[in-house]
Amino acid sequence: MRDAFLKACKGVRPPYTPVWFMRQAGRYMPEYQKIRQKYDFLTMCKTPEIAAEVTMQPIKILDVDAAILFSDILIPLEAMGLKVEFINDKGPEVSPPVRTGSELKILRPLELPAIDFVFKTIKILLKELDVPLIGFSASPFTLATYLIEGGSSKDFINTKRFIFSEPENFHNLMEILTDATMQYLLEQIKAGVHAVQIFDTWAGILSPYDYAIFCKPYLKKIIEKLSSTVPLIYFCPNTSGLINHIKDLEVDVFSLDWRVDIKEACLNFDYRPLQGNLDPLVLLGREDEVLKRVKTILIDGRCAKSHIFNLGHGVNINTSVDVLKKVVDFIHEFRFEEVNRA
Ligand code: CP3
Repeated sequence: MRDAFLKACKGVRPPYTPVWFMRQAGRYMPEYQKIRQKYDFLTMCKTPEIAAEVTMQPIKILDVDAAILFSDILIPLEAMGLKVEFINDKGPEVSPPVRTGSELKILRPLELPAIDFVFKTIKILLKELDVPLIGFSASPFTLATYLIEGGSSKDFINTKRFIFSEPENFHNLMEILTDATMQYLLEQIKAGVHAVQIFDTWAGILSPYDYAIFCKPYLKKIIEKLSSTVPLIYFCPNTSGLINHIKDLEVDVFSLDWRVDIKEACLNFDYRPLQGNLDPLVLLGREDEVLKRVKTILIDGRCAKSHIFNLGHGVNINTSVDVLKKVVDFIHEFRFEEVNRA
């Protein structure tokens, strides 16, 4: 198996910077669209052969150094008694929303057999892949926002109303989601994933004070539980105000968005392994402008103990497969010695 990605997760610098992309499987890819025309997104997630095929597409087409399981952060909610739907162009819908302490009784403990398709997909992939497979979950806080808002949100009013009017019950909700997340990730690890990434897409809506109270303790519990299993990556966009808390997390890799300077992040994260952080929309621009930024990130990323190239968020639907492939080839062919000599 190609081991550049796992080496970098462990703080060892491989001969070239490994690269993969968040949302590397998806609608920007004609091969994905072809399957998507026949099946809706959830059916694709729930059919192991299809989910495995779609997971493999970017490995075959782009030659990236890691695969990420084709699924969604909201999948475990269905195994907790909620209904999850993806309505075209409207994003996800979770029902019924859980907005008060008395509504917590709607939630059931995670029922693993209900999501057995995830573990079956992992098993198929392990037979076919020659690169490591990344499993994932949302952080309990990010998952909570979807379950409270009933889907995506702009202002997170319901989430904040819950936190600040019933903090004790919000903690109860976080306990339930933390247990479910730990179980879910451990089961993915048991099935054979080589690394896991925790997506904390919405933690950045919290003040540092409230991140420390309502988000960080639950992350710490999960990280502790998973310690000495597989490398753990923590992705949290909009981190700038939270850095002092985030750096306390004992994860293997911090995944950054494009709003931070990666050289500064090296200092702020004590030179620990970093992942990131090209603005995904740079990829819509002219090729020389794209590669200029890719090169800068590669060079700046060298100040960390190790660096995994990624985007600062998911691949945008308007991205050209050719441009992504050129970026991967550029990264694989890039030699730091030549920069040092110049
Ligand atoms: O390739 C991969 O990265 C693996 C698969 C993956 C998906 N979603 C597939 C997907 C992963 C890791 C996710 C994570 C996810 N899902 C996050 C965290 C990362 C982030 O973006 O911040 C979040 C917040 C979600 C929730 C979610 N799923 C939303 C808001 C949407 C709708 C937006 C959209 O782009 O349609 C989804 C749908 C979704 N998840 C698609 C895919 C490929 C599009 C489905 C389709 O219509 O084909």
